[in-house]
Amino acid sequence: MIFAANFKTNHTRKSTELYIHDLHVKLRAKNPEDTVYIFPPSTALDHYEGDFTIGTQNAYPAHNGAYTGEIGLEQLDEFDIKTILIGHSERREYMDETQEKVAEKFSFFQAEGYEIIYCIGEPLEIREKGFEAVMQYLLSQFDGIDIGYEKLIVAYEPIWAIGTGRSATVEEISDTHRALKKAISDKPLLYGGSVKPANIKEIISIAGVDGVLVGSASLDAGSFSEMVLA
Ligand code: PGA
Repeated sequence: MIFAANFKTNHTRKSTELYIHDLHVKLRAKNPEDTVYIFPPSTALDHYEGDFTIGTQNAYPAHNGAYTGEIGLEQLDEFDIKTILIGHSERREYMDETQEKVAEKFSFFQAEGYEIIYCIGEPLEIREKGFEAVMQYLLSQFDGIDIGYEKLIVAYEPIWAIGTGRSATVEEISDTHRALKKAISDKPLLYGGSVKPANIKEIISIAGVDGVLVGSASLDAGSFSEMVLA
């Protein structure tokens, strides 16, 4: 199973250090076959010791240059970062990242050999239109994306389930993952959206779920490790 923690705009450099130290100790009991990723804020990127991979929540598709406020490859290389989240709904929505921009970023980091956790997810109004509308919407988020990329991991995160405390139902996850798995030729597929210690076992036992991408419930090392060890 894959367990990914997305801190978003939470934690500082200092608190990330403490978190990771704590997690490192707790993860000694983890199944060696499980993989853990941590996406701290950019200010906390660094080399850390432990059985997990540090990735970046975002970056600009350039080595360096005049892109005020962004970080590029040069800044990521300093910490040997080789993993990135692309297409998260918060970036699509609040940072106005269009599918075209997302695809451009994907191609750039693919060419650089990055492991990419590529996020897709539908808003509530699409979910309410029914399964066909959901699949049509989700598949359109693969426009310009090389599904054949060997270092691709897909994360399905229904927007209405992100940070709301209300995860999708087992049936919704199961049906959507089954259909998505066919479309992405069986690439690893994570579920995200209000995953927490109380529902982790149920979610990771669904066929077609290869892991989880966790926001809120990952902010506490105790709660995140509880999920990894569940
Ligand atoms: P959540 O966020 O766990 O707080 O719902 C998930 C995500 O956005 O990756």
